[in-house]
Amino acid sequence: MPLVFTRRHEFLKYIKEQKEKRNSIGFVPTMGALHAGHAQLIKQSKNENNCTVVSIFVNPKQFGPTEDFAKYPRTFQNDIDLIESIGAEAVFCPTVEEMYPNNFNTQVSVSGITEVLCGAYRPGHFNGVTTVVLLLMNLVQADRMYLGQKDFQQVQVVKKMVLDLVHTTNIIMVPTVREEDGLALSSRNRYLSPEARQIATAVPKSLAAAAKLFLQGETNVTKLLKASRQELNKFQLEPQYLEFRKISDLTIKFENTIQEETVLAIAQFIDSNDSKVRLIDNVILDNNSTNKQSLEDLISRAFR
Ligand code: PAF
Repeated sequence: MPLVFTRRHEFLKYIKEQKEKRNSIGFVPTMGALHAGHAQLIKQSKNENNCTVVSIFVNPKQFGPTEDFAKYPRTFQNDIDLIESIGAEAVFCPTVEEMYPNNFNTQVSVSGITEVLCGAYRPGHFNGVTTVVLLLMNLVQADRMYLGQKDFQQVQVVKKMVLDLVHTTNIIMVPTVREEDGLALSSRNRYLSPEARQIATAVPKSLAAAAKLFLQGETNVTKLLKASRQELNKFQLEPQYLEFRKISDLTIKFENTIQEETVLAIAQFIDSNDSKVRLIDNVILDNNSTNKQSLEDLISRAFR
């Protein structure tokens, strides 16, 4: 059973003990509703550190007024069971009041790369993310922090914050875990009705279609987008965004030809039971052998 901390001061005492024992600390920040994607992050942290801390905190600051904070899935006992099965040492699950006492006045904000892609449609979202992540990082004092590639922009934003503020925690991006048919694992997938779940396969298919052409040598944005959109059109889906961006500077959008270091990112709403489920996903378009393998894996799942 992992040690479970809800209070900052008790958790800090535990961290101090780990430091005194010279244990390396791996940190997996989460909002709970854990799935196999989180399990992958926790496993990698277990492999690379003496002590793994998982945080569970549904952060109100990163949800907009019309977003799903209140109904965000909370599955605490399942989360603890999963964490225990992997063998993480500690869980930090503070209340909102514990994280943000009344006089909490600080906001961490990264400019530029937070204003495109998801940031263009979710004002304030990344300020909420960077504020909570820096606060958590300062509490955990980890050697390494693990984030999933599915939230690609989040990873780049956190990396930039860490670089700018000279934080000493290493940020490690872990590849997206996918279902058999290519759908990226996400806590929000549970909102999908069976029909909507079927339609959602168009999202990985749209990425796989572009990836397939890319692996054949295509770099023309119009042609890549056409292949991608064809998959969405089959279900009359119009993406919120579907864009080729430069990885090291997401403010740069490729309009004609994709260059080195390209990510293709998508956000797509899927209608499900009178509500709309927002899914995001991405692929890195790079020919190096590890990435090529993950593109081939996506293609074979999406078009099986
Ligand atoms: O990716 C998430 O689950 C959240 O954005 C994070 C990093 C835990 C911050 O609340």
